Amino acid sequence: MLELRHVSKTFNKGTPSAKQALNDLSLHLNAGDFVSIIGSNGAGKSTVFNAIGGSFLVDAGRIFLDGQDVTFLPEHKRAGSIGRLFQDPLRGTAPNMTIEENLALVYLRANKSRSIFGITNKERDFFREKLATLNLGLEDRLKSKVGLLSGGQRQALTLLMATMITPKVLLLDEHTAALDPATADKVLELTRRIVADGHITTMMITHNIGSALALGNRTIMMNEGQIILDVSGEERARLTVPELLELFREKSHTALDDDRILLRAD
Ligand SMILES: Nc1ncnc2c1ncn2[C@@H]1O[C@H](COP(=O)(O)OP(=O)(O)OP(=O)(O)O)[C@@H](O)[C@H]1O
Ligand SMILES: [Mg+2]
Repeated sequence: MLELRHVSKTFNKGTPSAKQALNDLSLHLNAGDFVSIIGSNGAGKSTVFNAIGGSFLVDAGRIFLDGQDVTFLPEHKRAGSIGRLFQDPLRGTAPNMTIEENLALVYLRANKSRSIFGITNKERDFFREKLATLNLGLEDRLKSKVGLLSGGQRQALTLLMATMITPKVLLLDEHTAALDPATADKVLELTRRIVADGHITTMMITHNIGSALALGNRTIMMNEGQIILDVSGEERARLTVPELLELFREKSHTALDDDRILLRAD
């Protein structure tokens, strides 16, 4: 479904601030894989997402999405196949537009000839139905401005928008890190359900080591632009949080250094 083949990326090449963020990284995701990603600050996790999303062109290697070589495809041409969430709940939704207008934006992006105005009653019913699945009462607030929603509500709405038209891959970059623990748990549970229902191939960067093991079917650890551990199946099912941290130490010869690290196992 998604394949990175020997991908490398150096920022500010040829300058004193040159930084190799991805170092000959290869990764193959099967359709329906839900991979959690952990690693130290600056390990290259977000850079992997940016490479997949096309924020920049990689220096070397190839990227395939659903059999298509997207290595040189510009960002806007990949956007339709990729759902993406960031840490900041303010990204991904338009605050001055209503909930229903934001949802209509999804269709506008997919079908440029459409208008966000003149939302039909049928669409409104569909939006209401979708919003009800979030269990946040947003189905009764179609005409509320999104800027009035809480961070958790906004992240849930962004998740809904990113998956309403099933993406080929869903990239979650610490999407619950800015939320309080109870809200983060809610959004994570929602993530698990939406991903499972839609069989969506997903990558989730998290600093919550417990969630990294609890969600999905595979866990990857990154260090210095490389994947240093890739566990799934039985081996992963048996792993505990302390064991995972010890594995990180063994493989990278350093302790996992993430300034937002959370060790609670949920
Ligand atoms: N656009 C850019 N220009 C220059 N350097 C960059 C750019 N993007 C990332 N880097 C550098 O590449 C390295 C990897 O960054 P990246 O954001 O991928 O780390 P990360 O694993 O997501 O870390 P964190 O846990 O802090 O989010 C870092 O040293 C970072 O400073
Ligand atoms: Mg990052």
